[in-house]
Amino acid sequence: MPTRQRILITSGPTREYLDPVRFLTNGSSGRMGAALAEVILERGELPVIVSGPVTLVYPDGAEIHRVVTTEEMLECCRRLFPDCNGIIGAAAPCDFKPEFFSEQKLSKSEENNGVVFRFVKTPDILATLGQIKRRDQWIIGFALETENGRDHALTKLKRKKCDFIILNNPQSIDSETALFQIFNTSGELCADLNCTKKAAVKELFTLIDKHCIFAAKEISSCTRSHKIYKS
Ligand code: C5P
Repeated sequence: MPTRQRILITSGPTREYLDPVRFLTNGSSGRMGAALAEVILERGELPVIVSGPVTLVYPDGAEIHRVVTTEEMLECCRRLFPDCNGIIGAAAPCDFKPEFFSEQKLSKSEENNGVVFRFVKTPDILATLGQIKRRDQWIIGFALETENGRDHALTKLKRKKCDFIILNNPQSIDSETALFQIFNTSGELCADLNCTKKAAVKELFTLIDKHCIFAAKEISSCTRSHKIYKS
């Protein structure tokens, strides 16, 4: 693992196309991903951004990989994650995609009046990476909830094998401000924030530095001394 930390960030929405022009998506702007990248660059580390379609410009110096669908985002992350120290899942990938894609534009004909679409689940990126995560890597997830926030966030933290989860609400979408609660794996509230997204990222890194990066260094130094002992 290189000494300059490479930190993978998923950012923005994804799109799932019904036909060549129509798609399912959400209002994620990529602002959170950009705020993360700014702070990571200021720390002298490398943000590796996997972004869905956004109009926002990511900071210079970030490594950027553009994708469209949730499956493309997953494949890109799967390829990049082994060379990264950790991942912060700030994207809002589409959780569903149309079961069938129409090669031709669906016409607004009488016969299509009342057309019904079936949607199927897309893969979960963080949960998939959670399965291949090494002991010296870490995962931070977000949970945007409208009810039972803490319970839902902690269920996601476990299922996605996150080290921390950031609970937020729909007002955070495309906003400059962050109303964030950060929970650890014991379900403890580690930070309760109402500030700019950039200030929130700095707080998040205080926790990552203390609990994830320090732990990762301990593991890799143990592995090294074990290797020296063995040879
Ligand atoms: O959509 P959900 O509330 O489960 O999102 C929680 C976390 O999981 C977020 O960090 C999001 O980026 C991530 N996620 C993902 N792959 C998906 C859906 C969400 O990695 N398909």
